[in-house]
Amino acid sequence: MNFHLSTFGTKSLQASPVNAMTAAFSHDFREGIDINLGVGYVNDETIPQEKLLACFAQVLQQPQVYRNPLNYGAAEGSRNLQAAITQYYSNNGILHKADFENKNIIIGANGATSILDALADVLPQGIVITADPFYYIYTETLERKGFTILAIPEDEEGIDVNMLREKLQNVDIQNISFFYIVTINNPSTTQTSNARKREIVQLATELSKQRATIIPVVFDKAYEDLIYDPQSEIPQSALLLDELQVVVEVGTLSKIIAPALRIGYAITHRSDLSAALIQRMSDIGFSAPLINQEIAACFLQQYMHAHRAQVLEIYRNKAKFICDLIRTHLAEYVEDCVGGKASFYMYLTAKNVETHTKSDFYKFLSRTTGVAEIDGFSEKNPRLIYIPGEMCVHKQGFMTEKGGRQLRISFGFEQNATIERAIFLLRDAFVYASQIRHR
Ligand SMILES: Cc1ncc(COP(=O)(O)O)c(C=O)c1O
Repeated sequence: MNFHLSTFGTKSLQASPVNAMTAAFSHDFREGIDINLGVGYVNDETIPQEKLLACFAQVLQQPQVYRNPLNYGAAEGSRNLQAAITQYYSNNGILHKADFENKNIIIGANGATSILDALADVLPQGIVITADPFYYIYTETLERKGFTILAIPEDEEGIDVNMLREKLQNVDIQNISFFYIVTINNPSTTQTSNARKREIVQLATELSKQRATIIPVVFDKAYEDLIYDPQSEIPQSALLLDELQVVVEVGTLSKIIAPALRIGYAITHRSDLSAALIQRMSDIGFSAPLINQEIAACFLQQYMHAHRAQVLEIYRNKAKFICDLIRTHLAEYVEDCVGGKASFYMYLTAKNVETHTKSDFYKFLSRTTGVAEIDGFSEKNPRLIYIPGEMCVHKQGFMTEKGGRQLRISFGFEQNATIERAIFLLRDAFVYASQIRHR
């Protein structure tokens, strides 16, 4: 007998394409042999274990500052953490204390992911406008929740607003639910320029005025703390560009401190939307674990400044390492390679070779070609997992063909020696797939 599931439950029966791909790979993953460049794991060296331990001790030892840290917390989040985030923004000149007046800092029950999920619960189903390629994990969740994705290609400054304006001529603006803009895009690492942020906010403001209700613009700043290229523009908060109060900024401490803290937050104008989000946090789990919030507050105040400089240095060096390798060994196979300025992804576009899960390139790296010399005899040869571009682009969009030749590789987690091995495997896969193409 079957369960009677909700529409959402029924759609959740099937693993998302990325989950299905990683599950097929991970049940027999061999440490030290196979290489996973698919996951967005941070580098272990960037996780400040000892300082977090010191913060843990301080939190427990100072009950007058950190009250009942092992008990339930409030849905909006810890006051200490909100104060520490305010201070962090102000120390970095992003927003000043006065800018936080009439705003809420909402701490997610479980990272930025829970805030994004909650937004999809409190906003009406409809069209979500985002860049192409997109953050495939969230767009997949949105589609399961009944939203439609309108994905518009990006140029080097972010989503192409002129093309969006053209597209919108055929869209009933009443059906727009919200904009979702990842400011350092995942997978492509494109940084939305400050000028582009302004244009996006302006467009959402115009549309909101036309239809007489606000269309929120969610800026996901997951990687804004990880800009390590000194030439990159210093990002401005879109909250400062916002006359009609359309902007919601979402941030996370996952990438810059530790994902397992599960601390993500939204900064919003105090509004119906923020009230609904706070209630939704309570529904999901009352609050993020209070102990983690207090540890994060303590860390931000005492250690963040020096810590961030170290993290940026680590990724800057890793980025240089992988960019040099790609230039030396893969240049003849790729027509485009972006990354190496912020976050820990490289996004490659192959010249002729396809990279999707049915391609020869993919089969080579997953050792499923059917040729024993390539796949391995009694033991499989080393395998490599990456995120195929096909999973990051709209299926019937402008980028579909190109996406079929793209791949995201993550250089955050693995040691440099493994990354070097990975680049050689990628080169071998390009050689193999090109040879089959020319047969
Ligand atoms: C664009 C983007 N937003 C949000 C998240 C999730 O952040 P969190 O760990 O705070 O849930 C990620 C994680 O990879 C991400 O890439």
